[in-house]
Amino acid sequence: MGVVYTVEMSDKRISVHADPVTDEQLVCRAKALAQRLSLGYATPSLMMLTLTADRLEMRLRGDKGKPVSCDLLKLDTQSPAGRSLKQPLTKALGIKKRSDLPLRVLDATAGWGEDTWLMHAQGCYVHALERNPVVAALLEDALGRAMGDATLPTDELCVKQGCALDWLSHWHARYPAESAWSKIDVVYLDPMFPPGRKTAQRKPMLVLHDLVGEDLDAAALVPLALQVATKRVVVKRPPKNPALLPDPVVSHGGKGVRYDVYIPGISKSE
Ligand SMILES: C[S@@+](CC[C@H](N)C(=O)[O-])C[C@H]1O[C@@H](n2cnc3c(N)ncnc32)[C@H](O)[C@@H]1O
Repeated sequence: MGVVYTVEMSDKRISVHADPVTDEQLVCRAKALAQRLSLGYATPSLMMLTLTADRLEMRLRGDKGKPVSCDLLKLDTQSPAGRSLKQPLTKALGIKKRSDLPLRVLDATAGWGEDTWLMHAQGCYVHALERNPVVAALLEDALGRAMGDATLPTDELCVKQGCALDWLSHWHARYPAESAWSKIDVVYLDPMFPPGRKTAQRKPMLVLHDLVGEDLDAAALVPLALQVATKRVVVKRPPKNPALLPDPVVSHGGKGVRYDVYIPGISKSE
């Protein structure tokens, strides 16, 4: 598998489980995952990262509802509306016609991977990066399932665990000139929205918030991203919140979100 885990977790709120525990292979894989993430195996905890025969999912103690696990195939990527290049995300990426594709996009704050999957489905090659190791494990599982038979990483889609601040600072050392990912067209950023939104949040978002907290260092990502992206940096924001970096060149409004666009070497005031 493509994800390399570099962050020590030892988060006592989370432990790894297998279901059913009678499946020895599953138990073995769950134990290996626990070790990789520095989490307990089957220890009492609030959050149970559970490996089943079908998927990796997050179960919450005392919660009778559905476990949290991303089903990316439920996203509309096939209907004319889902494939339209007029969507705000597609416009923000700078895709005007199919011949603009593929774009190489670094989704530097990949979370549950919905935007990764939408961009991949539009024809972008996407390198997903996620800082939190538990979220990265769930993300890799979700993308792997959505890809069907293909094993990640493929040329078009890969997932890595790590902090984008660090990765962006050392991008060209990690990906020297001869590697496919040495050139990034677009860096896409969607850090956690600040607290205080009045809209009801879905369970996956609430769990994500419990896992990763607030991304208080998000603003530092934009200047670094502008050094790596060759075409543009796109930042997803709540519609009424200020831009992470002042004066985006253009903004595209979406359903409950705004995409701020920055172009390397160009500022709006120029
Ligand atoms: C709002 S979520 C992203 C949601 C995602 N766009 C989606 O469609 O599912 C923000 C994610 O960015 C991750 N993140 C924030 N700062 C990061 C950083 N510096 N490096 C990597 N990941 C980061 C957080 O851990 C969190 O999982």
